[in-house]
Amino acid sequence: MSMQSDELNHIAEQVRACTRCVLYKQAINAVPGEGPANAEIMMIGEGPGAKEDQLGRPFVGPAGRVLDEMLASINLKRADIFITNVVKHRPPNNRDPLPEEMEACRVWLDQQIALIQPKVIITISRFAMARWFPNEKISAIHGRARRFDNLLVVPMFHPAAVLHNVNLRPLLEADFKKLPQYLYDNPRTPPPAPPQQDEPPQQLKMF
Ligand code: URA
Repeated sequence: MSMQSDELNHIAEQVRACTRCVLYKQAINAVPGEGPANAEIMMIGEGPGAKEDQLGRPFVGPAGRVLDEMLASINLKRADIFITNVVKHRPPNNRDPLPEEMEACRVWLDQQIALIQPKVIITISRFAMARWFPNEKISAIHGRARRFDNLLVVPMFHPAAVLHNVNLRPLLEADFKKLPQYLYDNPRTPPPAPPQQDEPPQQLKMF
């Protein structure tokens, strides 16, 4: 196992022992997130639901099935991405996570992002989206990548929203279809910088 995945496992262990906010008290399991340490794509949801809480794994309930279908439509698998949530313990009755809970949990997400250094982050919840796109509306910006240094962030509809509103499904599908191009557009190793404009032009050799 690589050093990176050891470190990712270490973060997961710390998440399982986390008492930084009250959510651990009513949860069955922590859901640290899962996927390869060298994943190019990271997806960030809101928080574990009932099934995720039972199993300690992200997106294993109905929303997870939608996610699998979307990934399959672009020939990707779960194992190709790292998937996690803004909060790592289930909020009781799936209520919205509170600002102080998200703030307390942020250290884990920050460490996961810093370690994995994905090319593309897909936010699939409004709380994940708010970190990069405060005060913007998902209906206006879904599927559009924005660059933050070496990272592209793409806000998308939550797969669970598709279950409640079938009209969103083609929009989510179309947004997923853009992903391969975003990956292509954002190589991990940037191409060499073009020569500096202000360098003096080379003297032409006279023969
Ligand atoms: N919804 C989320 O936002 N995250 C999960 O892990 C499951 C459902």
